[in-house]
Amino acid sequence: MQWSGRRGVPPGASITLPQAWALARELDWLHMERNDIPALFARVGLAGEFWAAAPPPMVREETPEDHDGIRRVNRLAFGGEGEAMLVDRLRADGLVITSLVAVEGAQVVGHILFSELPVETETGILCAAALAPMAVLPEWQKRGVGTALVRRGLEVCRERGKTVVIVLGRPGYYPRFGFSAELARSLRGPFPGDSWMALELTPGALAGVSGTVRYPEAFGLGAAHAAE
Ligand SMILES: CC(C)(COP(=O)(O)OP(=O)(O)OC[C@H]1O[C@@H](n2cnc3c(N)ncnc32)[C@H](O)[C@@H]1OP(=O)(O)O)[C@@H](O)C(=O)NCCC(=O)NCCS
Repeated sequence: MQWSGRRGVPPGASITLPQAWALARELDWLHMERNDIPALFARVGLAGEFWAAAPPPMVREETPEDHDGIRRVNRLAFGGEGEAMLVDRLRADGLVITSLVAVEGAQVVGHILFSELPVETETGILCAAALAPMAVLPEWQKRGVGTALVRRGLEVCRERGKTVVIVLGRPGYYPRFGFSAELARSLRGPFPGDSWMALELTPGALAGVSGTVRYPEAFGLGAAHAAE
């Protein structure tokens, strides 16, 4: 990016995209509107390159100070209250395995939650993890935030002893992380079809396993599911 002609900048001087990102973060810190920054790069025809060079967002465990930001992200991403309320219920019921936020400065821009999900099998209860919900602020979507949240979440689940993760989601999105509708087929649950997928954190964890997935009450699937 050429900076010639600016006072104090030698003619022909340029900055790299990582330097541009550092500058952008500083401008943000100076309370420049974040949405002005890509607009600035778009004006010089570099918006695509700018986002492609974006450093991954910081992903960490939620703290109580993040709760409002998490509700906001879920409301804006899903366009309703349902998922924000699901997060609150899972937390209140003590079912959270990990609840992670992606943050930019002081703002929560993405959120993912993994919760306890029992699977009744012939040999006992398999303590799987449910991935739900996951949300990224609309203006932050398609920049890798969701990917960073899923990858870190799966790592944490593995560290906490989980062997299987189950998700209801887009068949075009989750298989890239290893989720498969085929793996979920031997499990009975409330969601038929290709959107219901499972992932083995320990290879072979679902080999020869058949069972019934019992979504906790927090999911609001009703008595019919629990008694199934
Ligand atoms: C689903 C959701 C969480 C994904 O989050 P995200 O941050 O947009 O996800 P990613 O950026 O990791 O990946 C999304 C897409 O952007 C692409 N992408 C990632 N980084 C990119 C970049 N720097 N430039 C261009 N495209 C990029 C990915 O390849 C992916 O492509 P796809 O169209 O094939 O899916 C988000 O879209 C969302 O909040 N949706 C509304 C709520 C929802 O549906 N939640 C999921 C319920 S299952």
